[in-house]
Amino acid sequence: MKELFTIDTHDYNPDGRVHVRPSARAIIEKNGRFLVMHSRKYDYYKFPGGGIEAGETPEQALIREVREESGYFVKPETIEEFGRVLRRNRDAKDPDAIFEQQNYYYFCEIGDERVPITQEDYEIEEGFEAVWVECLFALVRANRHALRSGGDPALIEREMRMFDLADEAARKRNFEREETQAIKALSERKKDDTDGIVPDYADMLAFVGETLEPVQTEGEGGVGAHKLEFGYSRFEHTKRVLGWARRLYDRTPDKTGLRYEDLMIATIFHDVGRAVSAVSGGDHAAEGAPITRKYLLSHGYPEDRTEYICGLVADHSCKWRMTDPDIDRTLLMLMEADLLDDMGVLGLVMDSMIVRGRKKNATFYDCYNHYCRYTLPMQKHSPMVTPEGRFFWDEKTEIVERFVELLHRDITI
Ligand SMILES: [Fe+2]
Ligand SMILES: [Fe+2]
Repeated sequence: MKELFTIDTHDYNPDGRVHVRPSARAIIEKNGRFLVMHSRKYDYYKFPGGGIEAGETPEQALIREVREESGYFVKPETIEEFGRVLRRNRDAKDPDAIFEQQNYYYFCEIGDERVPITQEDYEIEEGFEAVWVECLFALVRANRHALRSGGDPALIEREMRMFDLADEAARKRNFEREETQAIKALSERKKDDTDGIVPDYADMLAFVGETLEPVQTEGEGGVGAHKLEFGYSRFEHTKRVLGWARRLYDRTPDKTGLRYEDLMIATIFHDVGRAVSAVSGGDHAAEGAPITRKYLLSHGYPEDRTEYICGLVADHSCKWRMTDPDIDRTLLMLMEADLLDDMGVLGLVMDSMIVRGRKKNATFYDCYNHYCRYTLPMQKHSPMVTPEGRFFWDEKTEIVERFVELLHRDITI
């Protein structure tokens, strides 16, 4: 298990006996809230869990401790390692000895069933109660206040740091879970029925992610290189464009001439050529077509369909073709989706990062100046052709205009 940190108070006799008492602790989230233990006596919080007894695995101890302390049952199949924390301090019960504790933390889920709690003497003495909290990060502050409350400071500090780490990790897990579900949902939509192949979007994304790896995060560009001045990820862009392609498709009432599956596939591959063009300096759209072709043919896609998808990839940069009344509708949707990314509130955040990338001591005025010169004019000049594209673009324009307007007021006397 990954080591997260160590708390060593160095207040013990280094030659003293070592008392080892490993423990297992649970990070439990349900319906957006977290289950934690609150000490009424010292007003601090900790994750449910406790000592691992002889003959027990950490997972068994976790299930038993959560049940004893909170009455809830951990679902064994949901237990996932998070990390461990080593704690070393003078043993309160044996002052000449060292108390050494490996604390194993796990993410897990619980069922709805609840049984009466059974508390140990010290738990009753500290007035422990199981409570649900909205935000783990708020408990960092709560425990900091409780550090001098008379409770065990090493324990309160350990849990304080764990609330910080677990808060971040839980949000990331939820974000990644949402993403996985969204990718799954892409394949559950209407099928084109062109042939018997079921596209594996997750595999395609993994392939594109790996191919783009060296250029995924760019940050080496010089002044004037725009988004290359911070950690802009091509792969993250690809996934966002996929979201926009899906939204555009869903919003379009007349789907004549729209090839949903080919749109999804072309979107996933549209910028894969960056892996080559970043080195060769060539046209990334043209470079993307052979990579896409190779993947699709090796995955059993027929030649004509492969050529169509590769055409979408190769042509996606020719944005001047958007106003051509005869443009392929699927290609147009890919282009609009591509252009919708990096705009709106995301554009404001991106441009703020760019301002900071160019100037170390950037001020609010510098940001305002940048928005007026670049962000706002780009946003106001809509390249959208379809009503659906215009709908999303206008929504973004509205918020950017209002943002700049209010920022101007905020920085003016
Ligand atoms: Fe592109
Ligand atoms: Fe793109």
